[in-house]
Amino acid sequence: MKFFIDTAEISDIRELAASGLVDGVTTNPSLIAKSGRKILDVIAEICAVVPGPVSAEVAATEYDQMLREAAVLRKIAANVAVKVPLTPDGLRACKTLSSDGAMVNVTLCFSAAQALLAAKAGASFISPFVGRLDDIGQDGMELIADIVEIYRNYPHFKTEVLVASVRSPMHVITAAKIGADVATVPPSVLRGLYKHPLTDKGLAAFLADWKGTGQHIIAP
Ligand code: E4P
Repeated sequence: MKFFIDTAEISDIRELAASGLVDGVTTNPSLIAKSGRKILDVIAEICAVVPGPVSAEVAATEYDQMLREAAVLRKIAANVAVKVPLTPDGLRACKTLSSDGAMVNVTLCFSAAQALLAAKAGASFISPFVGRLDDIGQDGMELIADIVEIYRNYPHFKTEVLVASVRSPMHVITAAKIGADVATVPPSVLRGLYKHPLTDKGLAAFLADWKGTGQHIIAP
């Protein structure tokens, strides 16, 4: 399973990318706004840090303007994935851009039918928002299971299931059990994946016992 980080904060991206466990980054207009920076600058900086796909979202809602914005975003770096909304214009843009060799992430997916359309439009990634479905009392993970099952029936679909709107480590674990290709996670959730109280407790005990031996693996 690939891990993308869902943020436009370059300090978090630098820190987490150093782990070697980050395969890509996703941003959206809200995350860019939160960063307080200009989209072209921040995407360029992220692309220089993370070699994997970096999603940059168009702000246009109409096909022609989406293509114009996509051209600007694609010029930033070869690893930019153009993010388009799951609308008729967005999917039309997806088809045109993917036919032209661009990576395209189709965002704001809330149904299996929408995911099917995105795959037919040649999307590189489909982004179903699990947390936002959970928020309205629907099971976001059920949608992931449905999309993974449908895509498996059609091996010629090359679209990767990118689990988005992730709110907790449990979302990541459930997505991995289902077999989703990617989870894009906020920095806090990625940090949370490392944690277990028994790891901390066990390490503290090992260190105390080691100190008692008076030994050093490398002489001080
Ligand atoms: C990522 O591509 C999405 O834009 C993001 O995961 C949405 O997350 P949110 O529902 O927490 O805003």
